[in-house]
Amino acid sequence: MTIAIKTAADIDGMRIAGRLAAEVLDMLTPHMAPGVTTQALDKLAHDYMVNVQQTIPAPLNYAPPGYAPYPKSICTSINHQICHGIPNDRPLKSGDIVNIDITVIKDGWHGDTSRMFIIGEASIAAKRLCQLSYEAMWRGIVKVRPGARLGDIGHSIQTFAENNGFSVVREFCGHGIGRKFHEEPQVLHYGKPGTLEVLMPGMVFTIEPMVNAGRREIREAGDGWTIVTKDRSLSAQWEHTVAVTDTGYEVLTLSAGSPALPAFVRESVTA
Ligand code: MF3
Ligand code: CO
Ligand code: CO
Repeated sequence: MTIAIKTAADIDGMRIAGRLAAEVLDMLTPHMAPGVTTQALDKLAHDYMVNVQQTIPAPLNYAPPGYAPYPKSICTSINHQICHGIPNDRPLKSGDIVNIDITVIKDGWHGDTSRMFIIGEASIAAKRLCQLSYEAMWRGIVKVRPGARLGDIGHSIQTFAENNGFSVVREFCGHGIGRKFHEEPQVLHYGKPGTLEVLMPGMVFTIEPMVNAGRREIREAGDGWTIVTKDRSLSAQWEHTVAVTDTGYEVLTLSAGSPALPAFVRESVTA
């Protein structure tokens, strides 16, 4: 398997695409309230991407082998939905937790990022899942540096999630990204340290753990796309697009509205 090494100029392009993807989430944030439909969020995002950013919504009509073309511009996955939820006309209600996953294409480069949103007042358990899945993503990101291995990332995420009583979805993973939406490598969110590919400067991939409150098993919902937890327990996901630098990592999908970095990340940055 070959993992593309991006040039500094390539990463300049991906940094722009990444920030724009995150800014779609920033734009949607004030709309994330009881009563809004995911289809209204899809329209807001689509129009913002196409008319304001002049980006292309990568999900729209995306059709990997074996899949029907994805019908919308964003993914909206609610409560026990793990990923790839299709926007529809049902209003969000207080207590829902929602993942919004945005992928834009700018000047041929993809930026891919997702966040969790808590609608109104959620349960303590739901809030804890959202918070700890965010930390799980960052436990993986901070492992990224030249010479580290993909297994180090997966192991760090898995042990953190499982030590907190959660499970990690196995069937979907992070992925290389660039001029293509999904390219090599696969970035598993579980595994053993010191295994799998050695990271090199210029590699760019996503880290996007799906963390379940209950068991890790999944089911396809019947629309050809939406993935849900088999036991109907809550699931949460966060995603960043990350470049391997000469000394560590650069997160390409940060924006003004990105949530604060976990304390252990801030400490490692200021140390
Ligand atoms: N954005 C998702 C990812 O992180 C992929 C969504 S594919 C779609 O890889 F077609 F459902 F949009
Ligand atoms: Co992704
Ligand atoms: Co995504």
